[in-house]
Amino acid sequence: MRCCKRISLGLFALAVMALAAAPLRAADPRAGQALFQGSCVPCHVVADWKGKSGRQVAQAVTDVNSGKHEHPRKLGLSDAQVADLAAWLSTAGTR
Ligand code: HEC
Repeated sequence: MRCCKRISLGLFALAVMALAAAPLRAADPRAGQALFQGSCVPCHVVADWKGKSGRQVAQAVTDVNSGKHEHPRKLGLSDAQVADLAAWLSTAGTR
């Protein structure tokens, strides 16, 4: 029993470390692509953001996400998801 307690404590510590590190992770364009295709494609095409930089796209998505820019659907994205989407959209449309 003792051994297992120690392992689960170790796992707990690892999980805490992973959570703490989450905001520092780099934006992942592939996750952004999956998210876009799953949640945005019925209404948007990548070319909607053609020529925009990652920062501009991130700002636009942030404004929609926070409700600052009116949008037909509440997005409810995390900061990391906004960054992923921006990373994908800022490269995909211009290829
Ligand atoms: C139900 C259809 C629908 C879905 C789903 C949808 N959108 Fe939109 N979106 C719209 C419409 C319509 C507009 C135009 C509103 C306006 O700006 O007047 C818009 C506008 C936007 C804008 C502002 C335009 C700009 O670039 O300045 C952003 C950013 C945006 N959507 C991002 C997203 C993202 C990201 C997703 C997926 C997570 C998404 N939308 C899903 C319909 C949708």
